[in-house]
Amino acid sequence: MGLPRKTCVLTALLGAAATSGLAALVLMLVQATDVLLPAGTKFGLVFDAGSSHTSLFVYRWPADKENDTGVVSQALACQAEGPGISSYASDPARAGESLQGCLEEALALIPAAQHRETPVFLGATAGMRLLSVKNSSQAELIFAAVARALGRAPVDFRGAELLAGQDEGALGWITINYVLRLLVTFSFSGAWVRPADASLVGALDMGGASTQISFVPGGPILDKSTQATLRLYGSDYSVYTHSYLCFGRDQMLNRLLAALAQAFSNFYYTFHFLNLTSGQTLRTANATVWEFCQRPWELVVASYPGQERWLRDYCASGLYILTLLLEGYGFDQDTWSGIEFRQQAGGTDVGWTLGYMLNLTSMIPAEAPARWRAASHGVWTAGVVFVALTLVTILGTAAAQLLWPQA
Ligand SMILES: *[C@@H]1O[C@H](CO)[C@@H](O)[C@H](O)[C@H]1NC(C)=O
Ligand SMILES: *[C@@H]1O[C@H](CO)[C@@H](O)[C@H](O)[C@H]1NC(C)=O
Ligand SMILES: *[C@@H]1O[C@H](CO)[C@@H](O)[C@H](O)[C@H]1NC(C)=O
Ligand SMILES: *[C@@H]1O[C@H](CO)[C@@H](O)[C@H](O)[C@H]1NC(C)=O
Repeated sequence: MGLPRKTCVLTALLGAAATSGLAALVLMLVQATDVLLPAGTKFGLVFDAGSSHTSLFVYRWPADKENDTGVVSQALACQAEGPGISSYASDPARAGESLQGCLEEALALIPAAQHRETPVFLGATAGMRLLSVKNSSQAELIFAAVARALGRAPVDFRGAELLAGQDEGALGWITINYVLRLLVTFSFSGAWVRPADASLVGALDMGGASTQISFVPGGPILDKSTQATLRLYGSDYSVYTHSYLCFGRDQMLNRLLAALAQAFSNFYYTFHFLNLTSGQTLRTANATVWEFCQRPWELVVASYPGQERWLRDYCASGLYILTLLLEGYGFDQDTWSGIEFRQQAGGTDVGWTLGYMLNLTSMIPAEAPARWRAASHGVWTAGVVFVALTLVTILGTAAAQLLWPQA
């Protein structure tokens, strides 16, 4: 009578323990698969207020990868109506209004529930740099108007500011090296690490009213005012960066042609038009630019109907780019082949904006968050092992109790 009752109680207890242990294990596994499911997407907006126009870039990334890198992609690029914000000196309020169209386009892309938590930045470059030199109070009025307009929008507006030319260069350098996965990459062991044999690339950028050059030089940087020291993901980088104001395309054409060109072309657009973006030799580039410049105007207009607005600038632009790269930066026949003309890399426009957002949202942390990941993974592993051990012990005891005949 005593024996069956003992067995009954033991069996019931062990059954309950086994069930709860199993439940815990199932719960943990379900939770683990939850994490693997597509996580929510986060968005960030950066207005690039350039000298001849304003662009809005919308970036997105998986919410659970906020502090990892290599996952931010471009969701939208929008050209704002009208000229750059520095052109609204006589009517600053209109500078704010000019951003509305692109902002609405971006918000239509982002789920309404996330609008309030979406960070929005505005960075102004050479056009506003020139205006603030000319009349700083006008520049301030424009910044105030732009900040008012964006402050009213249902977003997390983080401010409008003037970027120093050097920052523009350094941030462009971060963007291109990030997009090409040269700063961090996904390793076989499933962690983000610095690529072992990463050879970084330099960045040349020509905007409407300034031009930037940024690269990691082979030797030390003697003029410290041209040095940007960056600590990204546990590695230090000493980037030489220099910005030449008034050497951008529009200012050059201003001097050359005494006329302001409304065009958007830069290194890439000019060389793209001339079919020179797929690694042609310096000799070919030179010959192509000169051949284009010597074509009779009637022939050029007839060959490219509907593009008259930009056609007249391509010759001067092409010659200027050659002069800047050869005479200015000292590229020659041998080093020329190392230049790549790109508008995009990995589906993302290359400019300073992505680097700016990554920096201001701390998405490339100075230190790699390896410890946090290891700890959480360790805890998870320990949890699984512990629950499994509990189950084995309980089942073992149950088997022993049932198999051993008792007095
Ligand atoms: C990312 O880093 C920031 C600043 O270090 C921190 O506040 C935030 O909680 C981190 N986010 C995640 C998802 O780890
Ligand atoms: C700067 O702009 C303000 C506002 O438009 C104007 O009142 C002022 O006279 C300007 N100053 C100079 C030095 O041009
Ligand atoms: C990155 O952001 C910090 C502020 O968080 C700022 O001090 C620094 O100048 C920025 N770096 C660049 C290159 O703009
Ligand atoms: C570029 O190539 C296209 C297609 O091959 C051609 O139609 C066009 O005329 C070329 N452009 C120039 C400037 O030579």
